[in-house]
Amino acid sequence: MNIGILTVNNFNFHPNMRLKQAAEEQGHHVILINPYNMLSEITNNRFNFSIKDIDQKLDVIMPRQGSPMGDYGLVLLRQFMQSGIPLVNGLTGITIARNQYITLQALASAGLPVPDTIFITRPQAFSEAVDKLGGYPVVIKQVDGMGGDGVIKADKEQDGIIFLDKHLKERRGVIVQQFFAPENRVDVRLLVIGDKVAGAMQLKPLNDEFRANIHQNARARVTLPSEEQIKMAVASARACHLEIAGVDLIVENDCDPKVIEVNYSPGFKGLEAATGLDIAKQMIDYVTATYH
Ligand SMILES: Nc1ncnc2c1ncn2[C@@H]1O[C@H](COP(=O)(O)OP(=O)(O)O)[C@@H](O)[C@H]1O
Ligand SMILES: [Mg+2]
Repeated sequence: MNIGILTVNNFNFHPNMRLKQAAEEQGHHVILINPYNMLSEITNNRFNFSIKDIDQKLDVIMPRQGSPMGDYGLVLLRQFMQSGIPLVNGLTGITIARNQYITLQALASAGLPVPDTIFITRPQAFSEAVDKLGGYPVVIKQVDGMGGDGVIKADKEQDGIIFLDKHLKERRGVIVQQFFAPENRVDVRLLVIGDKVAGAMQLKPLNDEFRANIHQNARARVTLPSEEQIKMAVASARACHLEIAGVDLIVENDCDPKVIEVNYSPGFKGLEAATGLDIAKQMIDYVTATYH
């Protein structure tokens, strides 16, 4: 099969390199599609597209472009879809998971436990949101951040002002959320492929940091997820209409876990390193078995 990966990165980027290796081991091909090289058209009322330097027929597309593509990405994905090429993950899932508040809406409506969260659209609503959450500290997030870069902790009103100003101007809204102190919790990242958990790791933030992202140099170690965590992760992926998903749980001491985020194009460098598992092979096996 010819598996297209929609990505702005090249084969030096870990997931692209690993997916190529895994595909080639099974006699498949990976073709990287840079969204900026794609021309979409509706001519004579038909959908068509061309991609610079690529003339192979594409059997399936894995959208892995992440958030910088914004609405442009959705346009291209719809063009593939209308041209009859399946997407893993599909458009519905990506539309949900590219916005963290929409993700929380989908999770909560499926009965999955999520942190208390308030979505605000103007700076004046911030103090009201903080009051509703029981006071400082709170976490403030961009709805479409990645790798922890769009997430801050506010201990007082002043801490949030610059962040709120900047992101509320973008008219995407901002999330205000209850804060879970890092010393009282563990973060668990589970990678769901199909209806299984392919691997899981525990993440601990660096000292003086609350964000347990690999991108923020969090320490990862392999963990054997509980039955409950596995069920929660698979149900979260399903609630968000995702076939491949990175599900982030926060497990507070003595409390039930909460789902804080679901990623639609999860990286897996840290997970492969921590677990020794061949995650790329599991993804390729799933994609080729489901879309052959
Ligand atoms: N409400 C919260 N309280 C404490 N820490 C949080 C909270 N939400 C997120 N974090 C930490 O910040 C990290 C990044 O937040 P997340 O919402 O996953 O955004 P991103 O999409 O950037 O990864 C999480 O992995 C977690 O460790
Ligand atoms: Mg995250």
